[in-house]
Amino acid sequence: MIALGRKTVLAVCAAVSAGAVFAASGSEEMDAFITKLMDRMTVDEKIGQLNLPASDDIVTGQSIKSNIGKAVVAGEAGGTFNVKGAAKVRELQRLAVEESRLGIPLLIGMDVIHGYETVFPIPLGMSCTWNLAGIEESSRVAAEEMSAAGVNWTFSPMVDICRDPRWGRMAEGSGEDPYLGSRIAEAMVRGYQGKDMCRHDEVMACVKHFALYGASEAGRDYNTVDMSKFRMYNEYFPPYKAAVDAGVGSVMSSFNLINGIPATENKWLLDDVLRHQWRFDGFVVTDYGSIGEIAVHGLESLPEASVNALLAGSDMDMCSNGFSGTLKKSLEEGKVSMEDIDRAVRRILEAKYKLGLFNDPYKYNDLSRETEMIYTAAHREVARRLAAQSFVLLKNEGSVLPLAKKGKVALIGPLADTGSNMFGTWSVAADHSKCRSVRAGFEDALRGKAEVLYAKGSNLYADPVLEAACSVFGHSMRDPRPEEELLAEALEVAAKADVIVAALGEGAESSGESSSRTVLTLPDTQRRLLEALLATGKPVVMLNFSGRPTVMTWESEHVPAIMNVWFPGSEAGDAIADVVFGDVCPSGKLTASMPYNEGQIPVYYNHFNTGRPKSPDATSFQQYRSNFIDAPNEPLYPFGFGLSYTDFTYGDFKLDKDVLKPGGCVTASVTVSNTGSRKGDEIVQFYIRDMKASVARPVKELKHFERISLAPGESKTVSFTITPENLKFYNSALEYVAEPGEFRVMAGPDSRRLRTLSFTLE
Ligand code: BGC
Repeated sequence: MIALGRKTVLAVCAAVSAGAVFAASGSEEMDAFITKLMDRMTVDEKIGQLNLPASDDIVTGQSIKSNIGKAVVAGEAGGTFNVKGAAKVRELQRLAVEESRLGIPLLIGMDVIHGYETVFPIPLGMSCTWNLAGIEESSRVAAEEMSAAGVNWTFSPMVDICRDPRWGRMAEGSGEDPYLGSRIAEAMVRGYQGKDMCRHDEVMACVKHFALYGASEAGRDYNTVDMSKFRMYNEYFPPYKAAVDAGVGSVMSSFNLINGIPATENKWLLDDVLRHQWRFDGFVVTDYGSIGEIAVHGLESLPEASVNALLAGSDMDMCSNGFSGTLKKSLEEGKVSMEDIDRAVRRILEAKYKLGLFNDPYKYNDLSRETEMIYTAAHREVARRLAAQSFVLLKNEGSVLPLAKKGKVALIGPLADTGSNMFGTWSVAADHSKCRSVRAGFEDALRGKAEVLYAKGSNLYADPVLEAACSVFGHSMRDPRPEEELLAEALEVAAKADVIVAALGEGAESSGESSSRTVLTLPDTQRRLLEALLATGKPVVMLNFSGRPTVMTWESEHVPAIMNVWFPGSEAGDAIADVVFGDVCPSGKLTASMPYNEGQIPVYYNHFNTGRPKSPDATSFQQYRSNFIDAPNEPLYPFGFGLSYTDFTYGDFKLDKDVLKPGGCVTASVTVSNTGSRKGDEIVQFYIRDMKASVARPVKELKHFERISLAPGESKTVSFTITPENLKFYNSALEYVAEPGEFRVMAGPDSRRLRTLSFTLE
């Protein structure tokens, strides 16, 4: 029962309903099944499986329109992506399984990177929850929804470490830290893939962008990466490896060069590291059109680039038409062998097998699930809860927040009354009619208790050209009125209110792919609005929307209360109201440093010491020391930072021993108390520093954290059991080792305010 023509599919389905099941992945049965299927495939059909054309439905890259239905029937596509709607997907799947010669089912991909129709905060925001169970739950919800719409493959998690907020795609990842990034990568893979991808609501994940995409020079998208292997292994590789160790089914290579060779055809990266060192056994898909871009980098033209990409370990070509257009000729010319092609085909067929598509090609095509499973009240509740946890309270002078639900609240700003901007980047399946704006959330929260007064106040930018560039997907919300008129209206509204909430920052498309920025301060017209609102003398709360850490130095000096809300997703308005009006205590902590100014970039907490560090108590510039003349070394708000409405006190910090023996452990513990008057969550962080090693080690590295809930007056002791495993790093020979000597362990509420103890590794 291996032939999969139209009749056979019916036979397969009949067999399934009669109780026959295909064996688990990795089994001899799978190998035998695929071998027999491949024996029946022509060269064209094999190359067809390696081809991933875009659908004509939602265009996410530099558009290459494809006549997808025809290609599917001709067996010229292994899958497609970004098609929305269960019926449309079912029809495509039907064409593949019932109209193509061999009836091989399709992979149906989509960029579901922070939810399908129930949209969660952008991944950078999600990471600020430090809530691994919550992040896994969000990926589970996303998997339930996308699978109900026929999608069986998500291009997520995006785990690129980034220390450069000029890069707009920082929004899609989990910030600057390899340890936290790794834990999040695993949680997301677990959430998407479930136990084994066998259930109809479990989908295949695709970790991306392999590798180092977040280190593009100057944060300019698609730009060059040049990095030592020492840094790759210690700082940038860990989250990709964590996803592989968690069993991710596929990997997407990145657009960038890595030391002169594009990732897409980088044999060292895709074969030596990924396949041999990490033992990855899934398939590799290229990023959008990146085989075609090899020539533009100044390397080989499409036919040669396709050969090299295949030989390096790229199995599936997204949108270059490189494999589909040139590989057959290269085979005839002896530039690739049949085995090279077969290797890639097998990996893709294995993925389909593991997803259970040969067992039941319509596994994800039960149309009734689409109406029952998407944007449900239960899913929205999860999104609202997690969005509220993602907000980072940066300043709260005089406890302006939370606001009382009484009197008149002026809600002012370009982000105050827009639903579609709440989703943030890469929300391709979002329904823009289903989003809760801040205004809607406030009005519901205050109904019958207080009045919400609204004015837009300003556009995003004064310059319409700049504003258009930040609305690349056409969700412009520009108000044609002159700046003065918008401002006058806002001041009139403000004059009537007791308190002002200013909803300011980036538009949804100011960050994301192709949205690099060099100036990260609040745009001109918004700053003028904010200054005018502050000049009224009324209390002002600033909600900062952003897809990256922005520069908030002026605001930190002038605005009494600031909360970074990222892009909170479909439940934005309610989640923001929950925190602003005190139903939920803020608990998010930064996962990327917020720079003091753009010139500090890259600025990150886990840097090296240098031979001439600035002395810790120096308050001004030190000559011949590693520091700036005109700015501090430290960011404005450090990694791990975030305030609460209650107070947490760190008490007793101790180690149970001061010598760690090989094979043994040392336990560090710290007692944290809620000494304020509200129930709240605290993220307790532990860092380690290796004081002397064969290569330089960072001044501190996050190694453990716990998110705890404490009622007023309650205390908890949080422990971190340290084993030699926690002390390992890649040395100059790239061996993963723990070297004996002195270590410092630190605990505290963020990467700056830490208590320190020492122990020795024998
Ligand atoms: C992006 C990927 C995305 C792909 C498909 C590319 O432009 O870099 O992250 O998965 O398009 O939409």
